[in-house]
Amino acid sequence: MRLEFQHIHKHFGAVHANNDISFTIEAGTIHGLLGENGAGKSTLMKILSGFIRRDAGEIRLDGHAVEFKNPAEALHLGVGMLHQDPLDVPPLSILDNFLLGRQTRLIQDRSAARADLQTLSQRFGFDLDPDAPVASLTVGERQQLEIVRLLSRGARVLIFDEPTTGISLPQKVKLFETLRLLAQQGMTIIFVTHKLADAEDLCEQVTVLRLGRVVGQVTRPFTSAQLVQLMFGQTFATRERAAVAPGEPVLELRDLCVADYRLRVPHITLTARAGEIIGLAGIEGSGQRLLLRACAGLDAPVAGEIRIAGAKMNRQPYRAFLARGVGYLPAGRLEEGLVAGLNLTEHFILARRTREWLVNWNAAQNHARARIAEFNIRGDPASRVESLSGGNQQRALLALLPLDLKLMLLEHPTRGLDIESTLWVWQQLLERRQRGAAILFSSADLDEILEYSDRILVFSGGRVAQALEGRETSAQQLGELIGGKGL
Ligand SMILES: Nc1ncnc2c1ncn2[C@@H]1O[C@H](COP(=O)(O)OP(=O)(O)O)[C@@H](O)[C@H]1O
Ligand SMILES: [Mg+2]
Repeated sequence: MRLEFQHIHKHFGAVHANNDISFTIEAGTIHGLLGENGAGKSTLMKILSGFIRRDAGEIRLDGHAVEFKNPAEALHLGVGMLHQDPLDVPPLSILDNFLLGRQTRLIQDRSAARADLQTLSQRFGFDLDPDAPVASLTVGERQQLEIVRLLSRGARVLIFDEPTTGISLPQKVKLFETLRLLAQQGMTIIFVTHKLADAEDLCEQVTVLRLGRVVGQVTRPFTSAQLVQLMFGQTFATRERAAVAPGEPVLELRDLCVADYRLRVPHITLTARAGEIIGLAGIEGSGQRLLLRACAGLDAPVAGEIRIAGAKMNRQPYRAFLARGVGYLPAGRLEEGLVAGLNLTEHFILARRTREWLVNWNAAQNHARARIAEFNIRGDPASRVESLSGGNQQRALLALLPLDLKLMLLEHPTRGLDIESTLWVWQQLLERRQRGAAILFSSADLDEILEYSDRILVFSGGRVAQALEGRETSAQQLGELIGGKGL
């Protein structure tokens, strides 16, 4: 089935999530839809599969304009979508999930469906036991179930929204095999991703979205440099900052290995000195967060050595890291950084590093008021943190960090902030570094990495490159390393 998007628009309030999107996907191909988080990919795919309605524009299947009111109508015409968050029902059996959305539930239907499930599973080499509960499946197996369910309902276009998030490497290899097989059998596959390397591995053609618009399309053979250029755009980093002579080593990593259940990044060696800013670049989920959390004492490294201000910190508790002047700013402001339900005053009380058992509420309130003014937070001591805007939550998080930190570990410190707040945050950070803090920060924004980093660590495909000198690195070089070239 050939697919055409023509002048698709979708607004969510003030956000123009899809802005005049037009492109074509050829039948029987694997087509990549690539873009950073928030580019508008899921929105477009939800429109295509009938989950949400477009504001304007036209969709054509094999040349015919179509109008879907809901996902069932889309599937009836052959378009099925696997969502970023699975829509299956975990307590039910595989067979019951396979039957979801079918009209009748007669005994004969169940046995026919069972046979259907088994035939389709065999065709793709899936091992799905009809009677097992879905709760027992891995994410990869839940995807397999959803693939056979959609195929059994007549899908000829299959949309995969970020399917490699949360699956292991062998599962990914298996998934890619399946996608190639589906395309060979005539299905049109749309593969949505923000991971450059996945798009490069798999797709014959890639359309790149940025801020709701199509910014380009490439057809095999294409280079990762082309994709990077499209994804991140022209970079305009100014690269001027006050030089700070680096001081004593604050953080020393020797042959460190960090890992979680799906990713392992070995051989990280780095010395960060007082006054240095080190940017961690890479596609999201390449190990930057693992490194930051290991340096904060939140997750133990698998191997290697961490020293802070000369002291070996392996197997030390988080409190010992705090005592040595380490501060960690997580990306999930409300999930990890702040406590929803508590107000600003209560946060400042929690962040005290004293051993007093009683709280002097008047003093606490005054302290909160002073910090709110100093950090320009739009809110008052009684404001609950969840009522603050993202920019003000970030200001609050920075206000909670002690002033005498030696090492600041920042995960996406400016993600989702407007320009004014972004500049404000960096002004604070640059002041901290003048006072002698070493700063490690991760960012998906190449401009931000190039503009502020003295040195850059690039994470890609389970590896970390030798630290690059910030001033000598071009956006092109950085993009290629992120894309896995030259590591
Ligand atoms: N249901 C919604 N309500 C409000 N805003 C939304 C909704 N869905 C998406 N958005 C916004 O639309 C933009 C595009 O989002 P999305 O299509 O999910 O991007 P992507 O899948 O490329 O990460 C983002 O700014 C997002 O916050
Ligand atoms: Mg998405």
